[in-house]
Amino acid sequence: MKRRDFLRTSAALATSAILLPLAGARVFGAFSGLLKYKSIPEVRLNNGIHMPLLGFGTNTLGGPVAEQCVADAISVGYRLIDTAHVYGNEEAVGTGIKKSGINRKELFITSKLWVDNSGYEGTKKAFQTSIDKLGLDYLDLYLIHRPRGDVKGSWKAMEELFQAGKIKAIGVSNFEPAQMAELLSYAKIRPVINQIETHVFFQEHISYESLKKTEVQMEAWSPFAAGRNGIFSNPTLAAIGQKHHKSIAQVCLRWHFQRGIVAIPRSSQKAHMIENLDIFDFELDSSDLHTISTLDLNKTQFPEWG
Ligand SMILES: NC(=O)c1ccc[n+]([C@@H]2O[C@H](COP(=O)([O-])OP(=O)(O)OC[C@H]3O[C@@H](n4cnc5c(N)ncnc54)[C@H](OP(=O)(O)O)[C@@H]3O)[C@@H](O)[C@H]2O)c1
Repeated sequence: MKRRDFLRTSAALATSAILLPLAGARVFGAFSGLLKYKSIPEVRLNNGIHMPLLGFGTNTLGGPVAEQCVADAISVGYRLIDTAHVYGNEEAVGTGIKKSGINRKELFITSKLWVDNSGYEGTKKAFQTSIDKLGLDYLDLYLIHRPRGDVKGSWKAMEELFQAGKIKAIGVSNFEPAQMAELLSYAKIRPVINQIETHVFFQEHISYESLKKTEVQMEAWSPFAAGRNGIFSNPTLAAIGQKHHKSIAQVCLRWHFQRGIVAIPRSSQKAHMIENLDIFDFELDSSDLHTISTLDLNKTQFPEWG
């Protein structure tokens, strides 16, 4: 067996226990030589496309910092990169992608349609602007950023872009169960993803169950609550981390992973990027999971975005 195949098989075996509930999950190749665990498992979305379960977020990163962070993230093994029109960094993210030198086909790039551009025509135009800025000719995933404006018109445009092969998968973000049900009532193509705020302080059990039932993959934005509510000095998470010789960040990401949720942590530091990928060699046990469940405050940590 070649070394690459061996690594792939070992990683698959190591993660098989928690991946069993993830229909079709397989290991996503990311062999940079820098990582201890050189692969990121992926999940099969409801349209058959595979997506890494761990990616890199870019909100608030701009200009040369965003370029460097995206190039660094790809160099250490990330393949899923999450951006949005409203982050104002699509050009910089695109430059970072080019800088990385990685083949486009190995990457999974997400962008999002902002509220101001909702509706059929607006969506078509905004999508083209996003891919032009990114310097790409297709997106892996395009999301309606918020359930505002003419969602029905936007969805029709996204369905057409999907059918034209310009987007490999279409989905939504920040949709509550009732808004998702409304979309599902008229969608000809089902959304593959709902990207919502999810972290230990806002565990989103109702959305979690309802998305599972409709086979829409849940994706966590702000998987660290963007550092709010003292997450990185939380004594409960620190104790669980100590038990497994892992950091609080790693405990948080492992928790998302074991729930089968795609997480997209952001970091401006290469050391953190590497640390955040090193979550595939330990397992939170039922007592850890119970303890983490008690941290749920069941409310957003970003009330200003309501
Ligand atoms: N769809 C939506 O409406 C929506 C909304 C918000 C966010 N998002 C997406 O979700 C992504 C992630 O969310 P986010 O950017 O709000 O925040 P986040 O990923 O929850 O947290 C980022 C913060 O965590 C710190 N951090 C990262 N790794 C760390 C580590 N190992 N140890 C200690 N600190 C660490 C970072 O600091 P350092 O830079 O120092 O590492 C940064 O301050 C965004 O970038 C964006 O792509 C989507």
